Amino acid sequence: MVMSGIMQDKKQTKIKDSWCGKLAEDHINKRVNVSGWVSTIRDLGGIIFVELRDRSGIIQIVSDPSKNPEVHEIFEQLRDEYVISISGIVSQRPEDTFNPNLSTGRIEIYPDKTQILNKAETPPFMIDTDQEISEDLRLKYRYLDIRRPKMLNNLILRHNIVTAVRNFLNTREFLEVETPELIKTTPEGARDYLVPSRIFPGKFYALPQSPQLFKQLLMVGGIERYYQIAKCFRDEAQRADRQPEFSQIDLEMSFVESEDVMQITEGIIVEAFKCAGIELDLPFERLTHKDAMEKYGTDRPDRRFNLQLTDMSDIMEKSSFAAFADQVKAGGSVRTICVEGISEYSRKDMDDIRNLAISFGAKGLAWITYGLDGSVKSPVLKFLTEREIGEIQQRSGANPGDIVFLVADKNEVVFDVLGRLRLHFGERLNLIDKSKHDLLWIVDFPMFEMDEEENRLVSVHHPFTSPNPEDTGLLESEPFKCRALAYDIVYNGNELGGGSIRIHSPELQSRVFSILGLSEEEIQEKFGFLVNAFKYGAPPHGGLALGLDRLVALLAGANSIREVMAFPKTNQARCLMTDAPAGVSGQQLQELHLKTVLPAKK
Ligand code: AMO
Ligand code: AMP
Repeated sequence: MVMSGIMQDKKQTKIKDSWCGKLAEDHINKRVNVSGWVSTIRDLGGIIFVELRDRSGIIQIVSDPSKNPEVHEIFEQLRDEYVISISGIVSQRPEDTFNPNLSTGRIEIYPDKTQILNKAETPPFMIDTDQEISEDLRLKYRYLDIRRPKMLNNLILRHNIVTAVRNFLNTREFLEVETPELIKTTPEGARDYLVPSRIFPGKFYALPQSPQLFKQLLMVGGIERYYQIAKCFRDEAQRADRQPEFSQIDLEMSFVESEDVMQITEGIIVEAFKCAGIELDLPFERLTHKDAMEKYGTDRPDRRFNLQLTDMSDIMEKSSFAAFADQVKAGGSVRTICVEGISEYSRKDMDDIRNLAISFGAKGLAWITYGLDGSVKSPVLKFLTEREIGEIQQRSGANPGDIVFLVADKNEVVFDVLGRLRLHFGERLNLIDKSKHDLLWIVDFPMFEMDEEENRLVSVHHPFTSPNPEDTGLLESEPFKCRALAYDIVYNGNELGGGSIRIHSPELQSRVFSILGLSEEEIQEKFGFLVNAFKYGAPPHGGLALGLDRLVALLAGANSIREVMAFPKTNQARCLMTDAPAGVSGQQLQELHLKTVLPAKK
């Protein structure tokens, strides 16, 4: 954002014509009107120095009673965070009082007019420091937190990224179209936030989990290239990178293949990274979902360090160690990671690592320690033959000094546990090259996975994703082998976004719905409008959505997306400032035809 000292636009006001932090030596001897907040006050033997802050920075104001007693009287009343406006001539500071830490550190203003625009109570925390303050307090007084440099800079970065993305897409013939917030449910795998209807008793709108269906309908509508900075709502467990309402950079294109959408997305990401001073090389690498899982145990690998998984299933299948062999025979696997140079870990270290693996969902954790002295130690030594131990060493590339960790289970569990152990050692052993910017596409996702809790097939992406045409024949017979035309973009182990080529044939869409267990009636009731729309000349189309909050948070180096949202909610989805969610009056409930049933008090 460009801000100049004297405000350039026509919106200069009588009480403010200049940005505090943008004044410079070329304004010396000019009259300026500046307004802002009192940041610090120092009274040095009668002369009062005030640092005046606005969004752009700080300027020093000096009040000398001998120069202007009326102004000084007002200065004597000032307290931190008072809102004031002053008018005066910019002057050079005496050289011995230059402040190299301030961009305006060579100048100051002696005001000849001052006005207190508003008083302020003592704030509950210091504004002009980056000192750690409890997050609850910051969220309760978010409007004060936003005055602090860290939050302000994050919001500026966010604005710059959104501006760069809009510019990029606008110059590529995308139209920004808004889609409704009061809709019928759009399934993205989370719970909906519902809004009761007053006019239709017992009926509800859902807030969109994404604009997915509307952007597809815009393609049927012939828009061809759509984007939106879209608000999405998902009632799901909150985490550092999840909020109940968040924003997506959402786009959709007609007459495209996966590569076209991926290339546009790469362009967006390059522009966004430039806002943080990072230049990226194109194109980003592509890794299949299968390779990502087999090498890193996750579909969002952090490849800033190596440490890959190795499959030992064929070796262990024949083993007499039933705990391992049985898993392989049941369709699971035995896989390992080999961690270098930790053979001297204590018994307690190893117990802690085993407990960690169990907390990740493992049934147990086995390991083989290849000692520096050539010894081999393992809690499962008695179950393994010398040959097996040798084969494991050879295949995992273990050298003396290394430990090989083994997990046997269903594939999902093995991948998840080893993938997370891998990250644990990445951090613990400082293996991660933090200077790297690893952008990666994951492609060839499976179409379906099993929802173990509900014991039914669910879409890995969403039900509107097209199967890979090569696999359409497998849809009913071998659904788990069917690949989707879906792609995710991953940055340093974080999922930034995802998308797919969509189904545009009403027949194929109905087929996929019915594989997902929806009856004809359910399809009509839930998605009839979409399937019908496809009957009126739907172009082939595809798109993607990037999590804007995640993107900004990663570029700001923030450890939570709350840091880049002006008014986020807590992990319990509460707003500490406004106290939402809140009760409503009996009359409102009545109008909405609702009764609340509260859990019995214990
Ligand atoms: P998906 O559900 O993968 O895809 O969402 C896209 C991206 O949105 C971000 N995101 C979130 N950010 C903050 N808080 C949340 N609760 C949250 N949930 C998701 C993530 C994610 O990668 N309609 C499809 C996209 C498409 O197919 O075009 C969709 O919403 O960064
Ligand atoms: P057990 O026979 O259950 O006493 O286990 C013997 C050793 O194998 C212990 O060190 C367990 O932690 C380990 N172990 C058991 N099950 C598994 C598994 N599924 N994967 C990896 N290690 C396991």
